[in-house]
Amino acid sequence: MLSLPKAVMSAMHRPIYRHRLRVLVDSIIPHLRAGDEVLDVGCGEGTLARALMDDPRCPEGVRVRGLERAPRGGEPIEVLGYDGKAFPFEDGSVDAVIVADVLHHEPEPDRLAAECARVARRLVIVKDHQIKGPLARQRVSFIDWAANAPYGVPCLYRYNTPGQWGAFRERLGMEAAEERSGMRLYPPVFEQFFGGSLQYFAVLRHAKATDGGVG
Ligand SMILES: C[S@@+](CC[C@H](N)C(=O)[O-])C[C@H]1O[C@@H](n2cnc3c(N)ncnc32)[C@H](O)[C@@H]1O
Repeated sequence: MLSLPKAVMSAMHRPIYRHRLRVLVDSIIPHLRAGDEVLDVGCGEGTLARALMDDPRCPEGVRVRGLERAPRGGEPIEVLGYDGKAFPFEDGSVDAVIVADVLHHEPEPDRLAAECARVARRLVIVKDHQIKGPLARQRVSFIDWAANAPYGVPCLYRYNTPGQWGAFRERLGMEAAEERSGMRLYPPVFEQFFGGSLQYFAVLRHAKATDGGVG
């Protein structure tokens, strides 16, 4: 059971999280295709995967499964637990991988991203934070802590700058089908302090892929 302060924080976070979910669904759906097999790596409670499949705009036959280092139990989707290292999937065995606010929780983000790229036939969709703007590190650290403390997810407080995101993509050897150095993710007021340039979103495709675009 959550302690009282954590339960209060979790309740305050809920409407903000719902808004974030809607924006992420709006951003991801245009990149999915009918029949896609999608893996949501670090799916947490599985709400993003469920919201994608439940959205009326979701192409027919899309299946989103979760892969979690720390499965929570009772998720509304199929979730596979693993040791947080090598994915229990063959190379190119899913169409798209989603890794939403997970890389900054991982001590070896390049290794995790390489696993995402290995199993994804078409796309790796990244949502994360970014250090850009006044007091960016402090603001991101606060929102990261507030969103994760109620659920016991440890924070490393390590985030990329826009330049580091570019270098990350180069190391991964993927190209951007879409890249946003900023995202309006939260409801008004909250958005002013914690959204915008503190958010990073990219849809990456394998450099030689010719069919990784929208649709
Ligand atoms: C901030 S939560 C994000 C949950 C979900 N992706 C979302 O956007 O709502 C980060 C999640 O990533 C998971 N995680 C961290 N490192 C991981 C790894 N190497 N493999 C799989 N999951 C990981 C954590 O257990 C946690 O559930």
